[in-house]
Amino acid sequence: MTGVTVIRHPLIRHNLTRLRDRRTPPQEFRRLLAEVAGLMVYEATRSLRVRRCQVETPLERTEGCELEREVLLVPVLRAGLGMLEGILRLIPHARVGFLGLRREESTLEAAFYHESLPEGLHRFEVLVMDPMLATGGSALKALDRLTSAGARRLRMIHLVAAPEGIRAVRARHPRVPVFTAAIDRELNDRGFILPGLGDAGDRLFGT
Ligand code: PRP
Repeated sequence: MTGVTVIRHPLIRHNLTRLRDRRTPPQEFRRLLAEVAGLMVYEATRSLRVRRCQVETPLERTEGCELEREVLLVPVLRAGLGMLEGILRLIPHARVGFLGLRREESTLEAAFYHESLPEGLHRFEVLVMDPMLATGGSALKALDRLTSAGARRLRMIHLVAAPEGIRAVRARHPRVPVFTAAIDRELNDRGFILPGLGDAGDRLFGT
């Protein structure tokens, strides 16, 4: 599917399988999710633009390069927090914004309960992270909000995505690339991804 990259690195596939395993306890789930997110970020940031710059080595002046734009990481609360640490480890100079979205169980409609974003979003390369892309309702709310607040360069990073969610995001935000470790089969009637890994937020935080 155009604009959708499934990152199939062996280490990611190995860890994703352990994340799917119902016997994996929260402590291990957190560690594995942070690790997978860190591995995914290489691919998800491959096309970030760099500009040339000069650098003084201990011996002489030479040409190097630096990222052209600031990076803003936006975890979608709560479950997105599980990916933040692993990504920050690789982009420690990134800024971090937060969007709190909760999906109502009966309607599957996502609603905002928190927002904290920096000014001047147009300046940033924005990486939105959420382990699950199910109906796509939360992702659409997040993308709609970020674009209306001025964000121009966005990428989505998910661990597991349902075809329904991918279609929804691609239809409304066709220019936003989606990165995921897996595209699962379908959603069940409660909006859970099958085979999926359960509710990532609950498994991360044990609640
Ligand atoms: C889950 C998940 C996504 C969303 C996906 O969050 O982490 O944010 O649902 O579903 P959607 O694509 O159908 O919107 P939830 O609302 O359960 O909140 P949580 O992260 O606090 O557990």
